[in-house]
Amino acid sequence: MAFKETFLNWYYQHKRTLPWRGTNNPYYIWISEIMLQQTRVDTVIGYYYRFIEQYPTIEALAEADEQSLLKVWEGLGYYSRARNLKVAAQQVMNDYDGQFPETMEAIRTLKGIGPYTAAAIGSIAFQLPEPAIDGNLMRVGSRLFGIDADIAKPSSRTIFEQAFREVISEEAPGDMNQAFMDLGSSICTPTSPDCLNCPLKDFCQAYQTGTQLAYPVKTKK
Ligand code: ADE
Repeated sequence: MAFKETFLNWYYQHKRTLPWRGTNNPYYIWISEIMLQQTRVDTVIGYYYRFIEQYPTIEALAEADEQSLLKVWEGLGYYSRARNLKVAAQQVMNDYDGQFPETMEAIRTLKGIGPYTAAAIGSIAFQLPEPAIDGNLMRVGSRLFGIDADIAKPSSRTIFEQAFREVISEEAPGDMNQAFMDLGSSICTPTSPDCLNCPLKDFCQAYQTGTQLAYPVKTKK
């Protein structure tokens, strides 16, 4: 079986059931991705439900009272994330007629949304074929493609991005990004990758040469 089919089949069988999966609503996906930037999945789940209940729409968030907003965020840390969410919601109301923007360029204009988050939202909500590159994806990619670029160097990012662009599904790019996230957290882990159970072992350069622990290459700071 080809790479995309193999990997997506694995994802559909093994994916974690998470409250922001099974929706294409860009607002819900945006909130989840901002929370997940610096916080673990298990912690995010409760916050996500409470946040969406309190602010069910972009309009509600744009009008949020600052104290209440910080209250619902309490414990998640990095409070600038919450403040940026409100600013971005106002941008959507004012600049995009209340509709969450649907192109990468426009999504990137929103406060608090960088390249990773824009690609996650664009791929999951709008099926844009954009790889969402973070540290986990670079580790997985370094092994899969045998890339020895130093992941501590910002310039390496484009190398990984190009490699992932070659394989990302056109039909289900959001599912594929999330498949890579799940693979990185459950199988292709930093120090003890479970290669025997990996759906990508037949495609993996590092596994083929027994060098999985040599990747990723990372210079110490
Ligand atoms: N981490 C960041 N985004 C995620 C997502 N959509 N699913 C699981 N983990 C994530």
